[in-house]
Amino acid sequence: MTSINRDKLSNYIRMVGGSVAQGFNCAISAVGDRLGLYRTLAHSGPVTSGDLAEQTGLNERWLREWLRHQASVGHLDYDAATDHFSMCPEAAMVLANPESPAFLAGGFDAVLAAAPAVPQVAEAFHTGLGMSYDDHGAACACGIERLSAYSKKQALVNEVLPLVDGLAHRLREGARVADVGCGGALSTLAMARAFPASEFVGYEISSHALERARANLAEAKLGNVRLAHAGEEPLPDAPTYDFITTFDVIHDTPYPDQLISAIRGALKADGMWLCEDIRAYPTFAENLEKQPLVSLLYGFSILVCMSSGLSAPGGAGLGTLGFTEPVARRMAADAGFSRFNRLDYDNPFNAYYVIQP
Ligand SMILES: C[S@@+](CC[C@H](N)C(=O)[O-])C[C@H]1O[C@@H](n2cnc3c(N)ncnc32)[C@H](O)[C@@H]1O
Repeated sequence: MTSINRDKLSNYIRMVGGSVAQGFNCAISAVGDRLGLYRTLAHSGPVTSGDLAEQTGLNERWLREWLRHQASVGHLDYDAATDHFSMCPEAAMVLANPESPAFLAGGFDAVLAAAPAVPQVAEAFHTGLGMSYDDHGAACACGIERLSAYSKKQALVNEVLPLVDGLAHRLREGARVADVGCGGALSTLAMARAFPASEFVGYEISSHALERARANLAEAKLGNVRLAHAGEEPLPDAPTYDFITTFDVIHDTPYPDQLISAIRGALKADGMWLCEDIRAYPTFAENLEKQPLVSLLYGFSILVCMSSGLSAPGGAGLGTLGFTEPVARRMAADAGFSRFNRLDYDNPFNAYYVIQP
């Protein structure tokens, strides 16, 4: 008979119970996000459920249960003496402010959009074939767009591009730029706004993401941006672009070798490819030890990224943590690139490479 260690068993029950609670938490927090409750709490100061009902016009009984749930998971602070709930400024950065570098509430949408994929993912373990971005529906594209909003709207132009030698000057003078796998085009629009003399094309394979991109472009009213469905209009097979960007695309795409070769073919001889991809270490053991977001990244991988990379026959399925620096160096060299530099930019999610012919 195997003997059971009671303490270890208790720990496992707590750990797995915690995982189940986190699943509920994503759904319940997404409700609060959708109703604007985090934004209200960020500005309201301490409230009772009655106060919040008055401020929002929502049902007090539902709000009371929601506030208690949010305090029990640690999203809100609770003062038992006064029965008031409050949100600290740090929580507001993560939950209430989409323009903050720490904003993560878009992740709830991404989890919920991916969760219905469980039957198809289980089937994929038999067939090997994963789901494309579009197979997840529109909510997944929205979740990803919201998650990356700060890095695309603020950090890209103000912090990342200035680190690339000579780039800002070229973009100011007027350059041709392709943003491949542009998603909702937040990156394309931010660059186009900052560099009006340059011309930008956002290439995207997902119809849902393209729809978001079109809506964002219409709102931005920029004349120097065009969007292209990459399935109908692939990158030109001739040196056309001065600058090509990919933001978290290569690890997702089924045929990364073909895409990297296409980028090489579409770049002018003095052009540059800025590749943002997940900050991962070469081995699983190193990721376990050094990447604090490792479990989040593997979660994304199985439900979204590796699945997308396996969504076509013979897909590479690199996975969220699969386009590491050594892999990127090797694949870039195989495609005919000869210069490869990693930018010195501190970011927990992403690494940035400048790759040149
Ligand atoms: C993780 S999302 C990143 C979206 C956006 N760049 C961002 O940072 O928010 C990856 C995107 O790459 C797109 N994609 C994957 N392979 C592609 C390809 N070969 N050509 C164009 N887009 C592609 C997917 O449809 C998806 O929208």
